[in-house]
Amino acid sequence: MDYQFDSCSCLTLAKRYGTPLYVISERMVRDRLSQLHAAVHKRTPKGFALYAAKALLTVEMCHIVADEGVGLDVVSGGELYTAYRAGFPMKHVYFHGNNKSKEELELAVQYGVGRIVVDNTDELELLCAITDSNAAPVDILFRITPGVDSHTHEYISTGQIDSKFGIPLVSDSLERAVTRAISSAHVNPVGFHFHVGSQLFTNESHRKATAILFDVIQRIRDHNGFVPDELDLGGGYGVWYTNDDAPQSLEYFVDALWADVDRYSKKLSIATPRIIIEPGRWVVAEAGVTLYTVGSVKEIPGVRTYVAVDGGMTDNPRPALYNANYSALIADRPDDPAKTLVTVAGKCCESGDILIHDIHLQNPKPGDTMVVLSTGAYNFSMASNYNRLPRPALVMTNNGRHRLSVRRETYEDLVAREVVDAQRVGDLRC
Ligand SMILES: Cc1ncc(COP(=O)(O)O)c(C=O)c1O
Repeated sequence: MDYQFDSCSCLTLAKRYGTPLYVISERMVRDRLSQLHAAVHKRTPKGFALYAAKALLTVEMCHIVADEGVGLDVVSGGELYTAYRAGFPMKHVYFHGNNKSKEELELAVQYGVGRIVVDNTDELELLCAITDSNAAPVDILFRITPGVDSHTHEYISTGQIDSKFGIPLVSDSLERAVTRAISSAHVNPVGFHFHVGSQLFTNESHRKATAILFDVIQRIRDHNGFVPDELDLGGGYGVWYTNDDAPQSLEYFVDALWADVDRYSKKLSIATPRIIIEPGRWVVAEAGVTLYTVGSVKEIPGVRTYVAVDGGMTDNPRPALYNANYSALIADRPDDPAKTLVTVAGKCCESGDILIHDIHLQNPKPGDTMVVLSTGAYNFSMASNYNRLPRPALVMTNNGRHRLSVRRETYEDLVAREVVDAQRVGDLRC
């Protein structure tokens, strides 16, 4: 039998919708979201879970997330607008980002988002000016840079001191920012946020950052009396991409964080703040696969065999961006022994467009359908049109059923935004 994903034949999906094709299992996404919801609601204090939309966002994803009682972490006007268009309850939207524009902040205030996560002191001033001019109140969290190195790829490590994200703790910037917000007429400080990094397999960095955060809470309480009602402890929970990855359970992260926050709060004699968590990858990565058609199989004797597929860094830039590793199989004969050592290359004009270095596959041949596993996070959302490749369609499956969720881009889409002199078309010299 050919390879089945969420009880759907991958050969049927490839034939019906074409390749490259993103396939996302709604069933698996809902399962992860409901686990998240349960994890934060069964604990005391009851927390709240957000889904980090940057991992994969469509209007339909917004509907699924809202159905499961989970909020959204957005980082741009575009993500915010997608949530708005989907009718997502704005009070459950948290707006992050290290350089939000005036227009984006105005939009967030106009939509009435639940929290704006202020990343720096310039942003705070801008927000005070915006809320003063239209007398609109807004609840904010301050993003801190806890100074924790999370031992993941440097491009997905965000908590270290040398980071573009958050307010550093090495000066009194945070104390001054909190004091400024308290004195503002419409900006209401509610608490603090950190995100230490992504694809983490231990809770060490989260726990170190929580300890640091409570030192900060004590410092600020002593400085101006501010005590947070809410702490957003980020996401970053690791997932399976290859057999080198050993993901931990959700409970492993959540148990430790709840216990730490409770213990540190008691030590400071403050009410335990509400805890927010906001994983992205953990919700969608393993719920997605990408289907490709094998084009050529080129053996360079004594060197390597390249298997070229009809997508690449345009639909999955992660291997080129930070050496991310993936697993794959041949959908036509998944049960054959994977004995052929190959390197899976994309079709872009870059030598670095390699999806998988050195993987054993089931004797790949031109025309085969290749399935790259665990591509649900940061693939669709990071896709580009490099080499003028149309972005793939996205199909949602649900236990044997499938439907188109995002159509494939067309060549016409590629030129649709261009402002051209119509008279010149068809009247060119060479
Ligand atoms: C502020 C913030 N929260 C949450 C996330 C989600 O991280 P992950 O997808 O690893 O859970 C990110 C990822 O970059 C982030 O920057």
